[in-house]
Amino acid sequence: MKTITLTQPDDWHVHLRDGLALQRTVPDLAQQFSRAICMPNLVPPVKTVTEAEAYRSRIIQHVPKGNAFDPCMVLYFTDHTSPDEILKIKNSEHVNAIKLYPAGATTNSDNGVSDITKVYHVIEKLEEYQIPLLLHGEVTHAHIDIFDREKRFLDDVLAPLLKTFPKLKMVLEHITTADAAEFVLDQGQNVGATITPQHLLFNRNDMLVGGIKPHFYCLPILKRQTHQAKLLEVATSGNPKFFLGTDSAPHAQDAKENACGCAGCYSATHAIEFYAQAFDQVGKIERLEGFASHFGADFYGLPRNTAQITLVKEDQIIPESFDYLENQKIIPLYAGKTIQWRKV
Ligand code: DOR
Ligand code: ZN
Repeated sequence: MKTITLTQPDDWHVHLRDGLALQRTVPDLAQQFSRAICMPNLVPPVKTVTEAEAYRSRIIQHVPKGNAFDPCMVLYFTDHTSPDEILKIKNSEHVNAIKLYPAGATTNSDNGVSDITKVYHVIEKLEEYQIPLLLHGEVTHAHIDIFDREKRFLDDVLAPLLKTFPKLKMVLEHITTADAAEFVLDQGQNVGATITPQHLLFNRNDMLVGGIKPHFYCLPILKRQTHQAKLLEVATSGNPKFFLGTDSAPHAQDAKENACGCAGCYSATHAIEFYAQAFDQVGKIERLEGFASHFGADFYGLPRNTAQITLVKEDQIIPESFDYLENQKIIPLYAGKTIQWRKV
């Protein structure tokens, strides 16, 4: 039996939702991770530092006793975000970044930014204060194929953005293509990227061959196997630009298994084991610690964790479902399937 010990990991991209959902999502995540960037796409979205502080208090109420989980907060960028609010982030202890969703890109993104060039005067402040801009990197035009939306974002939005703001600290969230990986490699150290477990372990065949499997549906959507291979290559390369962000995004079973199913994979309960599985499958388990526990903290300028966790190479079956909200279920990523790693 193989055992590895690593610094306790952090999750630099997660959706915890609000209200009753926190009873499920917060304990699940806190037993795996020390810190997490808590995404602001609530209804209504978290648009100000004051709202983020209030959301943080609601999250903390659900942290199990004796667990030191520390939520890091993010504002939701809208067409109306003011430069003053960016100054408030700079002076805030708990708000670490701002998230930009192109309007209409994904779950609860209707209040997102309609045209990024219209908020350049706000992005200027982000660059000045070195506050990370977190990007959902997909264009949303109806005529652009869903599988090309990330690549088009790189060409049409990101390249001009970084030309205008070359020192902007930014994270391209949940990258899904070789194009995005290469784009990030070509930039300076101010540009990083998170990668989810589903984009390392699966590709669009897993979602679409032999019947449509809605629990693999997330945004950006799973791509072809060659993209999966490139993501695995960069994630396990030891390059500190690439770090862990699960994008664990809960939707009740009914909302996923639906004629119009919601986007999101729920991985919070077993995320570190999923990543261990992915790294081990390509013979790079020794690279897991940097990706999962060091590089994200370094990018955000936060101290690395001191606690440790241990993983053993031992089969475990992912549960078929968990209770969620009132009388609902949530189906986790890879439900009912066996993985080879287990956190002890
Ligand atoms: O699959 C996704 N689900 N992608 C996102 O960008 C948002 C998330 C959610 O909030 O459900
Ligand atoms: Zn997300």
